[in-house]
Amino acid sequence: MYKPFGRILYGGDYNPNQWPKEVWEQDMEYFKDARINSATINVFSWAKIQPSEEEYYFDELDEIVDMLSKENYDIVMATSTGAMPSWMYRKYPEVGRVDYQGRRHKFGQRHNACPNSPVFQKYAKAIAEQLAKRYGSNPHVTCWHISNEYGGECYCENCEKAFRVWLKKKYGTIDAVNKAWNLEFWGHTVYDWDEIVAPNALGDGMENGTDTAFAGLSIDYRRFMSDSMLENFKMERDAVRPYVKDTPITTNLMGTYKFLDYFKWSKEMDIVSWDNYPSYNTPWSFTAMSHDLMRGLKDAPFMLMEQTPSQQNWQPYNSLKKPGQMRAQSLQTVAHGADTVQFFQLRRSIGGCEKFHGAVIGHVGHNNTRVFREVKQLGEELERLGTSILGAVNEAEVGIIFDWDNYWALEYTSGPTEDLTYVNQIHQYYKYFYDKNIGVNMIPFDADFSKYKIVVAPVLYMVKEGMKEALTEYVQNGGILITTFMSGLVDQSDNVYLGGYPGPLKELAGIWVEEIDALAPEQINTITFTDGTSTTCNLLCDLMHLEGAECLARYASNFYVDMPAITRNQYGKGYTYYFGTNMNKDGIAKVLEMAVQAANVAPVISEATGLEVTCRKAENCTYYFIFNFKDQVLPLPSCFDNCTDLLTGQIVTAGKMMKQYDTVLISMPN
Ligand code: GLA
Ligand code: ZN
Repeated sequence: MYKPFGRILYGGDYNPNQWPKEVWEQDMEYFKDARINSATINVFSWAKIQPSEEEYYFDELDEIVDMLSKENYDIVMATSTGAMPSWMYRKYPEVGRVDYQGRRHKFGQRHNACPNSPVFQKYAKAIAEQLAKRYGSNPHVTCWHISNEYGGECYCENCEKAFRVWLKKKYGTIDAVNKAWNLEFWGHTVYDWDEIVAPNALGDGMENGTDTAFAGLSIDYRRFMSDSMLENFKMERDAVRPYVKDTPITTNLMGTYKFLDYFKWSKEMDIVSWDNYPSYNTPWSFTAMSHDLMRGLKDAPFMLMEQTPSQQNWQPYNSLKKPGQMRAQSLQTVAHGADTVQFFQLRRSIGGCEKFHGAVIGHVGHNNTRVFREVKQLGEELERLGTSILGAVNEAEVGIIFDWDNYWALEYTSGPTEDLTYVNQIHQYYKYFYDKNIGVNMIPFDADFSKYKIVVAPVLYMVKEGMKEALTEYVQNGGILITTFMSGLVDQSDNVYLGGYPGPLKELAGIWVEEIDALAPEQINTITFTDGTSTTCNLLCDLMHLEGAECLARYASNFYVDMPAITRNQYGKGYTYYFGTNMNKDGIAKVLEMAVQAANVAPVISEATGLEVTCRKAENCTYYFIFNFKDQVLPLPSCFDNCTDLLTGQIVTAGKMMKQYDTVLISMPN
């Protein structure tokens, strides 16, 4: 078990540099009262600590570090490179990004350095090294946080040149590029590396502002951008490392954020950390899935680097968290594998676009507030919980494949529908297991599938090298694979597998898909199961033929009435279920239920309940987190009768009615 911290870190982003000293002292008192034991500092202080090319100024940061060290904080030290100082833009405009429209950006905003600018790289590396030299041996600095929320893209000349180098390394010859992107189409053949143009509005860009006429080009650029920023991360990490020994180095990720291949990134990070900002209407199952994905990146506990204690400012509707909601949200994060609970931020700013973003201490300036009381209550509870939960693991018999190449490729492809979104597809299937309290691991395409009784691979559009073999072996040995429409269509360069859909999965699924129909939002089809029950479907409908598979449901409407819609194929000792269309929730549940029965997959507790029950296994005991996220009271299941709620220290009895956001935490010996 990886346990980089000696306690559950409880705190968050703290910017005393924006405040006079009297406020710092006051903060220390308030935070102690709330059991805050950690502060993330220096996230946006580059301009302050390096006011010019030659000068560094560390006096204030020294004072902040001293103050927090004296108070025995776990300090999360950011390298501050998420926003560049103005002098850098003035002297070296190349550090700013060029956007898809070809416009060079001026000084402003953040998270917008050109990743391939040698000037940016030089100064980012230097400041990271300076900071590590100065604070690396301080035992209170227990985590290093590189930059902040990497993301976006740049289309400048430096990037274009670097892209050509990246391509040369990947493909070797220009002919291989022509072939990979199928550039013979529209006569776009290139003869020389210098003729390759980054995908942007002035080149192969399409009118929608994101896609290009060649998805292969777009996908490779996406891979290249993700790699370029990863190189930025590695560069700073390597500058910090010599001074910090094995203190964990991380950067804050953003859940299902599209533009970076987080599975690749996580291999370079000591611990994953992420920022959780659900909207007022985000389903709790979606948040749970995001946590499971962040845990899945390294198959290990993670840090919750940021969440708001009350409200956001940047969403369309920044609803307050209702009483108990922040507590439940935080504990749900811990339930799914977090070993820290950190907020953005500890004190609310007076100006700038985040002045109405929630914080532990609000504009009133004191701690006599609802938000503070809730933060304090949770702080006391986490303290009571102690440390044995650190490193505890989430076990699962079901794996769901999440793959950024597929995310990109599926959404870059032109046709058959513009309504298909990768993450929503994955979430539909995740939600079934979530509702049943069946633990899920979110896994990469090259995971060890043999660990799972069921592997779900929704919209596995791009089947990359080795996947066919791995999935075949898995099913052959008794695994249950669930896959769907829009699977097995293209190779890693986005070129279609010939010989019938779903290409490399055809034999495994025992079917041949001849055509794919797209339904407009107002259109629905009906399918009928062999037991006579019916359900609706929409979005896409495969017109398929059985080639060995058994038909579980057929279309009951449209000109393809009676053609198979849902199938199951025995292959070796296992089965492949194929969903040829996008069924409604009940249809999905019906078929997944069959698979769960066949695979003998067990939920966390056997009793059916509308509560979320999630567990983490520590060395000696297993922790059960029980949440009511529903808008109705629900009884505590009988298996928890007469147990002690570790959060309150009280004994709970079965049938105890739990209100919305009520949370109970129980441990049972292993
Ligand atoms: C992000 C950033 C923070 C802050 C918050 C506000 O997560 O990392 O600096 O802007 O959003 O929600
Ligand atoms: Zn650039």
